[in-house]
Amino acid sequence: MVVHTIGANNSLFNQFIAEIRNIDIQKDSLRFRRNLERVGEIFAYEISKTLEFSEKSIQTPLGESLIHLPQSEVVVTSIMRAGLPLHTGLLNYFDGAENAFISAYRKYTDDGEFKINFEYISSPSIEGKVVILADPMLATGSSMELAYKALLSKGTPKHVHVVSVIASEKGVEFVKNNLPKKNTTLWMGAIDQKLNSKSYIVPGCGDAGDLAFGAK
Ligand code: URA
Repeated sequence: MVVHTIGANNSLFNQFIAEIRNIDIQKDSLRFRRNLERVGEIFAYEISKTLEFSEKSIQTPLGESLIHLPQSEVVVTSIMRAGLPLHTGLLNYFDGAENAFISAYRKYTDDGEFKINFEYISSPSIEGKVVILADPMLATGSSMELAYKALLSKGTPKHVHVVSVIASEKGVEFVKNNLPKKNTTLWMGAIDQKLNSKSYIVPGCGDAGDLAFGAK
């Protein structure tokens, strides 16, 4: 399974990640959502380079232009609710894509443990299509695995691109060990070393869903 870490290269991407992490800047939830959207756009651009393109002839007012246009059918899928701004960013670029939504959230017990609760999937058929599966935070990897399995009820994808803005080393290892190695690519913004006792990524950015949409 190929793992790309976009933030490993020097680019404007790192400014957006820095703002997403920064406790002073992330108080502005509009800017927080917009930064998730902006990194979603960059992920989309990077993923687009791996897709199949075919040559088409376009008529301009002054002549004919041969250009390469994407050929793959893409389904942008996100895990709610934190995935929604990232979804918008991906869709800004893949504007002809179909859309899927999966609801998965942590349900804590009194002793501080949690289980991932799956409630809902809305998805077209993914048979033979390229799926982009997005969740801004890849902490333990369990939600991603659950979402991936839920999607398989909608067909067999041609390829799955897993997108997370901030991941933990543990989450990346879990996904590498629990999702098929073939036809799966991981696109991570940054990979942090630690998870705390509540399985939040450290340093991470905090709770992405709460920062984007308010505390529950
Ligand atoms: N979800 C978040 O929003 N943040 C984390 O650090 C882990 C899971």
